[in-house]
Amino acid sequence: MCGIIGIITSEKRNLIPEIISSLKNLEYRGYDSTGIAIIDNGNIKRVRRIGAPSDVFHNQEITEAFEVPSDGFSIGIGHNRWATHGKPSEENAHPHFDCGGNLAIVHNGTILNYESLRKELISLGHTFLSTTDTEVIPHLIEQSRKEGASLKDAFLNTASLLHGSFGIALISTDDPNRLLLAKHGSPLLFGILDNTLIAASSSNAILSYTNTFIALADGEYADLSIKEGSVTYIIGTILDPEKLLTKEVMTITDKSLGDMTKGEYESFMKKEIHEQPSVFRTTILGRYDEETGDAVLGGLIDYEEILRNAKQVLTVACGTAHNASLVGGVLIETLAGIPVRSEIASEFRYKKVPMIPTETVLFAVSQSGETADTLESVKEARRKGYKTFGIINVVGSAIAETVDAGVYARAGFEIGVASTKAFTAQLAVFYLLAIKLARERGMTPQKGKGLLTELEEIPNLMTKTLVDTESIVRELAEHYANKNICTINFLGRGIHVPLSTEAALKFKELTYLEAGSYPLGELKHGPIAVIDNDALSVIIMPYDELFELNKNSLEQILSKSGNVILITDEIGAKKLGAQSVDIVVIPTLKNTLLYPTLEILPLQLFAYYYALALGNNVDKPRNLAKSVTVE
Ligand code: F6R
Repeated sequence: MCGIIGIITSEKRNLIPEIISSLKNLEYRGYDSTGIAIIDNGNIKRVRRIGAPSDVFHNQEITEAFEVPSDGFSIGIGHNRWATHGKPSEENAHPHFDCGGNLAIVHNGTILNYESLRKELISLGHTFLSTTDTEVIPHLIEQSRKEGASLKDAFLNTASLLHGSFGIALISTDDPNRLLLAKHGSPLLFGILDNTLIAASSSNAILSYTNTFIALADGEYADLSIKEGSVTYIIGTILDPEKLLTKEVMTITDKSLGDMTKGEYESFMKKEIHEQPSVFRTTILGRYDEETGDAVLGGLIDYEEILRNAKQVLTVACGTAHNASLVGGVLIETLAGIPVRSEIASEFRYKKVPMIPTETVLFAVSQSGETADTLESVKEARRKGYKTFGIINVVGSAIAETVDAGVYARAGFEIGVASTKAFTAQLAVFYLLAIKLARERGMTPQKGKGLLTELEEIPNLMTKTLVDTESIVRELAEHYANKNICTINFLGRGIHVPLSTEAALKFKELTYLEAGSYPLGELKHGPIAVIDNDALSVIIMPYDELFELNKNSLEQILSKSGNVILITDEIGAKKLGAQSVDIVVIPTLKNTLLYPTLEILPLQLFAYYYALALGNNVDKPRNLAKSVTVE
């Protein structure tokens, strides 16, 4: 939520294209408004716009707005906003100024005590021009400066007054050779080049410039400056600024993680849907032993005994990651026979969960590794004595750093705001985890080997599913989008229930239409009332032990004149014979527990093509942000 960029260089040049291209890479974090500020000849110049950088920062206009001096710029900041306090508008867009216009800041996070700070600042004569929580920051710094503090002290004093979360970057005409950063609860790092330092909310914004960076931890600041013709930095803690820290310089070496382009695809979402076979392959790669029929999860190696003795599993996650956890829950309960409780993180934080921490292992599941509710749940669980593990996609993210240990999901950068390939990668980890827990609880090596062999086949079958289903799903989506369906429900039984929940979530996010999801057997207990000629039911029912029961429910829907799309496998399609319903056929699997890996593909494509038919932006659906770092 919100993306920050800051550049400082001893090699003066036109920094605007670099700031814009980095902001474009951060668009997934927020895209309702955007802004840039640079120091030009002792003055701060600023441009702010409603919309995403790729939509509003066109070359011509920007060149006119920032006339580049012959010797170029040496410092600038930029921001993409996802509004939390104050609606998207130019006034509310960052960077924000103090009264004198001598300093500009960009902020990611939420200032919880902004109302009292704002009142106090107004009583001291400060004038506010926006309705954001952020604007208190430049005014607090300005006030502290008035009271005699140096720029750095004023910045750190201010940071220490803020409650809530922040990643902040500051530039000031008082010291045009200095970029100050502070972090608490929102991600912030800076990349290191020969003559340039680039601060960003995420490494993916700046990977095209450098793969070497330092990530700040909560409570830390960085003072980046130009001294004697080169750039330099110091890092310290906000509350004890004189105590300087030596931080590890990290290097991202995995090239695939750096692929931030759409390639041959017209959207990131389509690309990411099609990347799922390779993501699944990468996620399981090297994480099992064919000889022993067991999963080998290096990240959990020091916790083998705890996993072996665990009496129950608790998962905490939000949205799509929660839906993946629900599938994981069925896998673990079925294969390992351990009870699993899957909690939505925003609920878990505030409710009493009567589980015994010493007997329970907690898995926090998150693509971004930044989701505030999940992060706080982990912290709360740790306080209560749970051992916490992560299934996280973003390496080095806040949750990854907070849990005791974990398994990375290896989905690579997910840019499309609606999560697709991260879900599949999370499923892949859950399959391995379930096998591991099961092998420790009596699953034979033979059974383990069998499952692993089938798991190895999944990427090829995913490719086949995409090839076989995409055009029919597209036709169906376009047909129903034009038909103006009033009600849409996604239905299934058993392990397919969380798939129906995920399908409904994807559909809502992308089409902006309400969609329901139910266990198929629940239909007759109420939801069937909505079925008529204007209702569509998407039923996930590959051939399994519940197939005949599912056919009953199908008949009930058809008898009420409902429209139906069936997702079934080759055997299921044969058994159904000639039906007056549309059937999307996926490959038949020996082990029915593996169906979610294939079913999800036509379901994602359905939401995707339906949304396209409605003219919606599939990569950046309205009102959403990729990392939800607020409560
Ligand atoms: C849905 C979606 C969200 C996220 C949720 C958790 O497409 O992307 O529901 O799954 O906000 O995010 P992470 O996984 O980053 O914790």
